[in-house]
Amino acid sequence: MKLALLLSPTFALLFLSCLTSATNSPHNTFIHCLVNHSQPSHPITSSIFTPSNSLFSSVLQAYIRNLRFNTSTTRKPFLIITALHVSHIQSSIICAKKHNLQMKIRSGGHDYEGVSYVAEVPFFILDMFNLRSIDVDIGNETAWVQTGATLGEVYYRINKKSETHGFPAGVCPTVGVGGHLSGGGYGNMMRKFGLSVDNIIDAQIIDVNGKLLDRKSMGEDLFWAIRGGGGASFGVVLSYKIKLVKIPKIVTVFQIRKTLEENASDIVYNWQHVAPTIDNDLFIRLIIDVVNVTKNGTQNGAKTIRATFISLFLGDSKTLVSLMNQKFPQLGLKQSDCIETSWLQSVLFWTNINITEPVEILLDRQPQSLNYLKRKSDYVKKPISKEGLEGIWKKMIELEDAILYFNPYGGKMAEISSTETPFPHRAGNLWKVQYQANWNKAGKDVAEHYINLTRKLHKYMTPFVSKNPREAFLNYKDLDLGINHNGKNSYIEGKAYGVEYFKDNFNRLVEIKTKVDPHNFFRNEQSIPTLPYRKN
Ligand SMILES: Cc1cc2nc3c(=O)[nH]c(=O)nc-3n(C[C@H](O)[C@H](O)[C@H](O)COP(=O)(O)OP(=O)(O)OC[C@H]3O[C@@H](n4cnc5c(N)ncnc54)[C@H](O)[C@@H]3O)c2cc1C
Ligand SMILES: *[C@@H]1O[C@H](CO)[C@@H](O)[C@H](O)[C@H]1NC(C)=O
Ligand SMILES: *[C@@H]1O[C@H](CO)[C@@H](O)[C@H](O)[C@H]1NC(C)=O
Ligand SMILES: *[C@@H]1O[C@H](CO)[C@@H](O)[C@H](O)[C@H]1NC(C)=O
Ligand SMILES: *[C@@H]1O[C@H](CO)[C@@H](O)[C@H](O)[C@H]1NC(C)=O
Ligand SMILES: *[C@@H]1O[C@H](CO)[C@@H](O)[C@H](O)[C@H]1NC(C)=O
Ligand SMILES: *[C@@H]1O[C@H](CO)[C@@H](O)[C@H](O)[C@H]1NC(C)=O
Ligand SMILES: *[C@@H]1O[C@H](CO)[C@@H](O)[C@H](O)[C@H]1NC(C)=O
Ligand SMILES: *[C@@H]1O[C@H](CO)[C@@H](O)[C@H](O)[C@H]1NC(C)=O
Repeated sequence: MKLALLLSPTFALLFLSCLTSATNSPHNTFIHCLVNHSQPSHPITSSIFTPSNSLFSSVLQAYIRNLRFNTSTTRKPFLIITALHVSHIQSSIICAKKHNLQMKIRSGGHDYEGVSYVAEVPFFILDMFNLRSIDVDIGNETAWVQTGATLGEVYYRINKKSETHGFPAGVCPTVGVGGHLSGGGYGNMMRKFGLSVDNIIDAQIIDVNGKLLDRKSMGEDLFWAIRGGGGASFGVVLSYKIKLVKIPKIVTVFQIRKTLEENASDIVYNWQHVAPTIDNDLFIRLIIDVVNVTKNGTQNGAKTIRATFISLFLGDSKTLVSLMNQKFPQLGLKQSDCIETSWLQSVLFWTNINITEPVEILLDRQPQSLNYLKRKSDYVKKPISKEGLEGIWKKMIELEDAILYFNPYGGKMAEISSTETPFPHRAGNLWKVQYQANWNKAGKDVAEHYINLTRKLHKYMTPFVSKNPREAFLNYKDLDLGINHNGKNSYIEGKAYGVEYFKDNFNRLVEIKTKVDPHNFFRNEQSIPTLPYRKN
């Protein structure tokens, strides 16, 4: 009786009048459309949050991962739909299209520019966090993973089934599958197994007509596009089928820090030649930041550069030490620097969690800490001279709060053709640079100060990085590269950032986009544009 009432249209309308304040607003008719289209067996009403709902702010804030977009002046959505069932996604698309509304799709919310939950125009959020099942099939070494899952959940579930299987993806466990896998997905096993997108074998997507498609029914073009071209330009990705990779039961990690006083310049110089060419089982990330000089326990106000080498080796420590002594003796790696651990615990190490913590911490969807941040990216193709490095150090000390992450390429990355997936940055790249600024104080001027630091350092790096085009990584979303207003100039606007993210693959992405979403329903500040209208 109660259930029947819940499902009856009369109840739905009653419910709606409580849900919305302005009775005849376009948003109201949108909600009517959603309810009308939802299946009686899967009512959508409990998934709809309007600003008048007391839970609205907490639902919105639950997956904001950059505090830069958690201010009172950040535009808020007029609605959030926390989909519980595929039919909710289908209704959202059909009704939003009908009412010409801007939809943003959010999975883990880690977009560096908040593109999944912020917009310059009125918009609503389709939130995917409830759709996060993970189905691991060890016999076939595959898993179906819904896009609302986090990487930590994926790693944990695989490990529960087998300690000798893993998946090559990002190092931060709270990152969402939806944005990460559709945008490329790199991590510390990339030199051995490639990117996440190199290990995807099927997918489910809901297209602009609300149709649920798999690899076979979507066709190879669209399947290609959603492995690195960004899902949000093409549809709502519901799940990916991933190919698991074989890993040893014991891996080795280390972290070694050297300041300029400890010969950091020489060691970094050598790292450039070693990290992209050494054994594929070894990944040595390099982080460069500015710290106070400490002499005999005291600081005199002087600044220095600190190089942090953080590593994952898919093997034991004895093999690693002997490999390092042979190929990279300048770093001086000792057995006592090495920690042998399981692959799952190495994920904790890499995200700055003590590896003695229970691995269940990977199921925690809330990051350890949040701050305000800005990111940019670059690719280096030629080693930088010692003079070049010293100039960079000088600039960084002048800026003080800009950080560089160097992630070495080579190995498997260089073996995969640049057209295999939309991600084009393959052979010929020594490493990828990530520019970082992190801060923890609110305010527009503060933000501008830190954002400026990354822009200044990025500008300074021009002679050392790729040119024509200057390449960038889609998962390191950077609106400085250009913004699309999705009007009549959208192709020209899209080409600006599109060529940096995708090089020649941009053209194929545009063609696929034009075919599957000709009216550009799936759009955002940096989506793939459709081809300009041509009169025949
Ligand atoms: C702390 C931190 C660490 C990171 N570490 C790494 C790393 O190690 N390696 C790496 O490669 N990247 C890393 N990133 C970048 C990360 O991969 C991207 O930000 C990624 O897009 C985040 O995915 P998400 O689902 O969490 O983000 P969201 O903000 O939810 O989405 C990002 C983009 O994808 C779209 N999208 C999301 N879900 C779907 C879907 N289901 N269907 C269609 N489109 C969708 C969104 O609309 C948006 O445009 C990191 C980011 C952060 C904040
Ligand atoms: C509800 O859906 C039916 C068909 O599914 C359609 O005819 C009707 O116009 C819809 N009503 C609203 C308010 O969208
Ligand atoms: C985001 O902003 C709200 C409102 O000011 C605040 O209550 C909340 O704590 C902020 N979130 C974080 C993680 O700081
Ligand atoms: C692989 O998957 C198929 C289809 O799901 C299943 O029938 C088969 O048993 C699986 N093979 C193994 C070795 O588990
Ligand atoms: C720095 O390098 C020089 C010459 O290679 C060496 O003599 C010196 O011991 C090194 N210093 C440190 C702290 O490693
Ligand atoms: C270093 O510090 C200790 C105690 O703080 C002091 O006794 C010693 O003289 C200092 N050495 C130098 C070289 O400054
Ligand atoms: C470094 O020195 C500055 C003053 O120059 C001080 O404010 C800051 O706290 C110091 N940082 C650390 C980590 O000691
Ligand atoms: C990790 O935790 C253990 C046990 O609590 C502690 O002994 C150790 O010092 C911690 N390690 C680090 C690096 O904090
Ligand atoms: C940031 O840079 C812009 C452009 O160079 C400049 O106008 C602005 O004053 C800078 N802002 C801050 C806070 O440094």
